[in-house]
Amino acid sequence: MLLEVRDLHVEFHTREGVAKAVNGVNYSVAEGETLAVLGESGSGKSVTAQAIMGILDMPPGKIAGGEILFKDQDLLKLKPEERRRIRGQEMAMIFQDALSSLNPVLTVGQQLGEMFVVHRGMSRKDAKAKSVELMDRVRIPAAKERVNQYPHQFSGGMRQRIMIAMAMALEPSLIIADEPTTALDVTVQAQVMDLLAELQREYNMGLILITHDLGVVADVADKIAVMYAGRIVETAPVHEIYKAPAHPYTKGLLRSIPRLDQKGRELYAIKGLPPNLTRIPPGCAFNPRCPIARDVCRTDVPPLYEVDAGRRSACHFWKETLDAR
Ligand SMILES: Nc1ncnc2c1ncn2[C@@H]1O[C@H](COP(=O)(O)OP(=O)(O)OP(=O)(O)O)[C@@H](O)[C@H]1O
Ligand code: SF4
Ligand SMILES: [Mg+2]
Repeated sequence: MLLEVRDLHVEFHTREGVAKAVNGVNYSVAEGETLAVLGESGSGKSVTAQAIMGILDMPPGKIAGGEILFKDQDLLKLKPEERRRIRGQEMAMIFQDALSSLNPVLTVGQQLGEMFVVHRGMSRKDAKAKSVELMDRVRIPAAKERVNQYPHQFSGGMRQRIMIAMAMALEPSLIIADEPTTALDVTVQAQVMDLLAELQREYNMGLILITHDLGVVADVADKIAVMYAGRIVETAPVHEIYKAPAHPYTKGLLRSIPRLDQKGRELYAIKGLPPNLTRIPPGCAFNPRCPIARDVCRTDVPPLYEVDAGRRSACHFWKETLDAR
């Protein structure tokens, strides 16, 4: 397995108390596999990603337990310099907002080229040629001229392509894309997502795709992990989860995506809000919002039950949920 996150716990020590942002996350990504991570705002998707990358804000953040196995070694046990090497060369992250991730006072070519100068010991001239090649690869038109431009001279979609090029530059084995298309227009979103999926296949990379958008996921992901209040509540191969979710929260998420064949119908919304992470309810964290919650849900934390090979659900009533599709 390329990446395996085991029982990861992350807390933030705040004035309000200890916010338990990640409470025992388990997921894995194989070479060449795409894992989509879904869940409402605040469910711990980005914090988990930051812990994997080693870019968590510490303090206030703290890794309170668990393991992050990357190529069979626990990243949490590595020396800082080894961790930095892996972060620079073997994994890369793509963020939502390219403008704040790119340096405004350096040209795109200088920023791309820097990767090759620092990590591959190339000359400036060779690095520039390599940058043009990369820009071509992510299909930025007129790359030879545009390599000398600054980030603000590019459109949002083109900037996101530059971010992808930066992430791909050293051919990492894992890419984490945290809402890579959220800030873009719908048509541009699809183009950028297609490009990312194409490169992922070509280089056989593992990809973790964090998104709110269930529509995007169906086309590109192999499997899905749904997060709620810092836990994985369901994992499954992508097509199975669409056919028949085994967790009431997943079911609610699926019902809340707009569908073309149901235009005009009022969109379903899961009632209520996710819990305050300093006071997660006992039992199943979803119980105050769950339409089928019972007494046991308010006392016993559901384990990740095995539903099927490669399928798990953290719901005491997963079978009933699955059958009631
Ligand atoms: N720097 C921080 N300081 C304090 N608390 C934090 C910090 N970063 C994250 N948190 C806490 O962790 C929780 C989970 O945050 P995270 O960014 O992982 O959510 P998310 O699932 O990525 O949401 P979104 O979809 O909005 O990006 C937040 O609700 C917040 O309580
Ligand atoms: S464990 Fe209970 S509250 Fe939680 S999702 Fe299942 S039925 Fe709902
Ligand atoms: Mg996030």
